Amino acid sequence: MDDRLYIFDTTLRDGEQVPGCQLNTVEKIQVAKQLELLGVDVIEAGFPISSPGDFNSVIEISKAVTWPTICALTRAVQKDIDVAVEALQYARHKRIHTGIGTSDMHIKYKFNSNREEIIERGVAAVKYAKRFVEDVEFYAEDAGRTDNEYLARVVEAVIKAGATVVNIPDTTGYCLPEEYGAKIRYLVEHVDGIDRAIISTHCHNDLGMATANTISGILNGARQAEVTINGIGERAGNTSLEEIAMIIKCHKSIPVQTNINTTKIYPTSRMVSSLMNMPVQPNKAVVGRNAFAHSSGIHQDGVLKNVQTYEIMDPKDVGIDDNSIVLTARSGRAALRHRLSVLGIDMDGERLDKVYEAFLRLADQKKEIGDDDILMLAGADRTAGHHIKLKYLQVTSGVGVRPVASIGLDVAGEQFEAAASGNGPVDAAIKALKCIIRRQMTLKEFTIQAISKGSDDVGKVHMQVEYDGQLYYGFGANTDIIAASVEAYIDCINKFRK
Ligand code: KIV
Ligand code: ZN
Repeated sequence: MDDRLYIFDTTLRDGEQVPGCQLNTVEKIQVAKQLELLGVDVIEAGFPISSPGDFNSVIEISKAVTWPTICALTRAVQKDIDVAVEALQYARHKRIHTGIGTSDMHIKYKFNSNREEIIERGVAAVKYAKRFVEDVEFYAEDAGRTDNEYLARVVEAVIKAGATVVNIPDTTGYCLPEEYGAKIRYLVEHVDGIDRAIISTHCHNDLGMATANTISGILNGARQAEVTINGIGERAGNTSLEEIAMIIKCHKSIPVQTNINTTKIYPTSRMVSSLMNMPVQPNKAVVGRNAFAHSSGIHQDGVLKNVQTYEIMDPKDVGIDDNSIVLTARSGRAALRHRLSVLGIDMDGERLDKVYEAFLRLADQKKEIGDDDILMLAGADRTAGHHIKLKYLQVTSGVGVRPVASIGLDVAGEQFEAAASGNGPVDAAIKALKCIIRRQMTLKEFTIQAISKGSDDVGKVHMQVEYDGQLYYGFGANTDIIAASVEAYIDCINKFRK
């Protein structure tokens, strides 16, 4: 019988730290419920002391899910732990994740401390957390660059203090797979009492080795993997859940099994990508748009003869069912509701009616409506409560003429209109908008991306606007990319007020 590998999902903590990926509490609950359906063992729901929003999300997620353990992050600081305990009060199964940096770099520059004092602080934090919860995980931040002998001393001390899980993060994504595996093996072989705790991997992808390092850790004795959906996370991201789950499913030689229902992987990936406005790269393993697309003639020929010639996994195993992906203008409300529920969104009544109306409008402009479009439509009513809304936009542009835009805005119920010219249609539209919203704001980043393919596609726009020394992220999606750009700009402005 294979060992159990526990899946610890940190999409809502390490993943959500990514600029522009912030979710509100309702969205976090939606993701948490989907993670429960997916079968994750632990949901890291936030870092409660970091903000009232994180605190509240941990409370609400604790109420919303039943089976997974809800975990809250802290530093090795009593106040952090007190706040985490309060945030976890409604969780049926709760865990505190506390820790401290253990590499010489962290000890010297972050803490201006020494190795012995760091052990004392780690031990004190675990002991303090143990007063409130049974399940305490300790992280040795930057363990990837911590020397193994010292790391073993830290791990031994915190297990003695009561840690049930010991997390060995490769915080900077520096380790080679062999090196990371050897680190885990060293702990298995040198730490007294290691059998009383579960060793956890937590790998970052700075050099593209997060998945390889995690697998190496598992092969050497780790029994929990910390992962995120689509591999989102700080900088180049964290290990992606879908890759680990499918590697374990495909490679029977790895002696572990997970509780993941792999058919929920694709809907979860789409949901997270859509809510976080974070596109999945087309060639992303397991969940990318091209992951199962065979374009070369030789491959297509082979796949038609026997699908296993070029496919090592069945798309259905990850929840991709090609026949049901595309909806058209002739699809009914029931088909839309079914597709939404496959994608993890349960919707009925007035809300469904609204999304269905928007769906029909889009289907008139685009022949085929894919999952990304549907998720975009389902998220579109998030703008309903916005202070500033785009009422109309008209743009004239072309070759040999200076682009001109006129715009109508609803600002808290009051109607405004303005017109401007610019060096392109987006520039003209934004200048017109700035004639109404007279604030000192600077566009810092602007990306346009097609959701799927075809000239009738929906364009997604991500923007970053600086206002009053702060950066705000906005998102827009529309078949008209100029309208999508203006929507994204307005999305940024609506955030100034929060
Ligand atoms: O990467 C890291 O070290 C972390 C810890 C806070 C667990 O995210
Ligand atoms: Zn991390």
